[in-house]
Parts: sequence; structure tokens; C-alpha cells
Amino acid sequence: MDLKDKTVICSGKIRPVAIAYLQDKVTLKSWQQRGRVPEEQWNAWLQEADALYSAGNIRIDEKLLQKAPKLRVVAQSSVGYDNIDVEACHARSVKIGNTPGVLVNAVADIAYGLLIDTARGIVRGHLHTKNGLWGERKAMGLGVDLYNKTLGVVGFGDIGSAIAKRAQASGMRVIYHNRSRRLNDAALGARYVSWEELLKTSDFIAVAVTLNPSTKGLFNEAAFAAMKDGVRFVNISRGKVVDTDALYEALKSGKVAAAGLDVTEPEPLPGDHPLLTLPNITVTPHMASATEETRDEMALVTAQNIVAALSGQPMLAQVK
Ligand code: DGY
Repeated sequence: MDLKDKTVICSGKIRPVAIAYLQDKVTLKSWQQRGRVPEEQWNAWLQEADALYSAGNIRIDEKLLQKAPKLRVVAQSSVGYDNIDVEACHARSVKIGNTPGVLVNAVADIAYGLLIDTARGIVRGHLHTKNGLWGERKAMGLGVDLYNKTLGVVGFGDIGSAIAKRAQASGMRVIYHNRSRRLNDAALGARYVSWEELLKTSDFIAVAVTLNPSTKGLFNEAAFAAMKDGVRFVNISRGKVVDTDALYEALKSGKVAAAGLDVTEPEPLPGDHPLLTLPNITVTPHMASATEETRDEMALVTAQNIVAALSGQPMLAQVK
């Protein structure tokens, strides 16, 4: 189908693989410079857009939709789509695509890295060395083993189960809590438990839920209080799932022995944020999917979602 009369606009810099895929098929307006598209230009693009390639975390809501009368497709270049008002899009028959699947392994690797870091203090060890303390008798203290410990995974979709697999390689027992029990959990070597049991019995907790009204602020003061003393906590999902102040207090008191976060609230986390004054936390800048291969695959799926939707075909992944 000839889609050259369809205009696809991009909210930020996109990968060459997506440009190569799109440029011969549609009329592409992409901003390949640093930062956001200048507002005047963006507003003019919105007027013409049939599809929007959402790169970066722009808010897609009624306000934006009103400026884009022809828009029929929003393709989000990530698995998470909490920046999109799904109801507002669907009310205007705007289809939404995203990129699950292709980023599972990259994200699970970062979760596993942070899990090991909460046990062993790898980043802290690096800073210890860098600060010239290795040769001085400044002890770092001991870590703990992953082996024979219980990992509680909250949110047991593809990413949660990929984290479980990695933890099992370190000899961990895996329990999980999810909206519903996974039919194949025995094959995945994981046991479904209640929310309360997970909090009470996990030595480590890894969070892989999507952000929605029922998970927003899920890890609050009460949740941290219900955890085992000295639990270690990893979040690779969305920062808003965790009450940042409650986590700060739990880390400060030692209730949570260590945390590893790839996502925070707010994002970006300012360099002088109180969380970063704590010795028992590692924060990475929402980089879990940031590998060459994964970002290329995400870009390609995003581009393919656009072309499929504009051609009236099913998208590779559609948000319903
Ligand atoms: C996603 O795809 O939602 C991830 O958070 C990106 O790293």
C-alpha cells in the first residue's frame, strides 16, 4: 500500500534503523538534533500528522490530541506507556503501539546487575577504590550471598520471569506476586504467594510491575514496614510505584539494607537528591533497555507498528 501521503512525525531523535524503514514508505518528519523539537515546529507538525513516533517521554494527552486532528496512530518506543492517556487516544480512535518482548533480556540483565549490587556493593567497592581507600584500613563491610536466599518478584510478566531465571542461576528461590497466578509458574520454578507473604518472606524484592492506578505508590511506608529486616530492594519498573520518601526512611534506618533503582520519582533524579546521600543505594539513569541491539529492535518495532496501523494491518504490539 502506498503510504507516501501519510505524515509520520517523531517527537525526538530516532535510530537510523527506524529512519531507514520509514523514509521510503511514508512522509517522515524527524528531529535528529539534541533536545526537543522547537515548539512552533512541533505544533505545525502535529497539524499534519497521521502518526506519531513517540521517542522520549512526551505527554500524549487530550491537549496534544486537540492539536493533531488527523492523528490515527501513536507508536511508543518503549514497553511502558504511562506517558499516554490511553482513554483519550481511544476516544478519538487513535491506536497505540508499544514494544514489549524485544527489551525483556536487556531489562532483566540490569535488574540482575542491581540485585547483585545490593548484595555485594559493587558500585560502592568501585567508589572505595577510586577514593583511595583500598590501601587504608577502611573496611567496606561484608556483603551477603544470593545463593540460598529468597527473591520475591512483584509483577511476573516476561521481564519478571526473565529476572527469576537469572536469579535461579545464582541459586535463589523465587516467589512472586502478580495480578493473577501464571499458569506455567511451575515450569518457571517460581511459587505464587500473596502480597503479604512476599513482603514478609523475601530476602530480596525485585519490582517489575507496570505503572497503573493500582500500582502507583504500592511500595509505601506500610509495605516497607511489612518487609523482612535487612531486605534488599530493586526497582526497574517505574519510579512512581515507590514512595520515594518511604524508601529513603527505610534505607536510612537499615530496614532496607540496600536498594538498586533504575527508575525513580522524580526523573531525572537531581544529583543532589537526598536518596543519593545514602551509602546503601545505587541509582542508574533509567537505562535498562539502553543497549545498541535492544534500542534498534525497539525502534524497528515502533516503525513497523506505524506502517502496519497506517495500512490497516494489526500492529506487532498494540495497547488495548
Ligand atoms: C520501557 O520500555 O518502558 C523501559 O522503561 C525503557 O527503558
